[in-house]
Amino acid sequence: MSAQFDSLWSIVIAAPHHRESHSVHGPDHWKRVERNALILATRTGAIVPVIRLFALFHDSRRENENHDPNHGRRGADFARSLRGIHFDLPDDHFELLHEACTWHTDGKHHKNPTIATCWDADRLDLGRVGIVPDPSYMSTGFAKEIASHGSIDPWLHLTHIVQTSPFTGI
Ligand SMILES: [Fe+2]
Ligand SMILES: [Fe+2]
Repeated sequence: MSAQFDSLWSIVIAAPHHRESHSVHGPDHWKRVERNALILATRTGAIVPVIRLFALFHDSRRENENHDPNHGRRGADFARSLRGIHFDLPDDHFELLHEACTWHTDGKHHKNPTIATCWDADRLDLGRVGIVPDPSYMSTGFAKEIASHGSIDPWLHLTHIVQTSPFTGI
């Protein structure tokens, strides 16, 4: 992981928020979403900088742990406020990130492989709240396979073969 991405995590975590690191929607969850997304990307072809930034921002602006219908859009707009200062993405990649964050709780399925990978990675972490991920909620074939198995453990080794370093910097 690049030093720049580490520092971006520090900036986002340091921003005022309501939660502890281990809370249901806190940084520990963000880390698992990133791991899940990197595993899925080995088959889905998702754009790696976008999925890593989705993991960081998608729940970063939650105001509570319950009903918070606009938290995805706030996370997307928070990403926009830091773009060009602490990270950068080409316009078309940023649009994917913004859409993935904004609609991650409302959208059902998505055909774009990068957005689909983001949403599936989030939904594969439902085990933290005692819900077994349902294959029918997944957009990608790979996530359906993992959800059907009931655990991502057999695929954890794939995190090591993903190119994680080329983070798009400013
Ligand atoms: Fe969320
Ligand atoms: Fe989430």
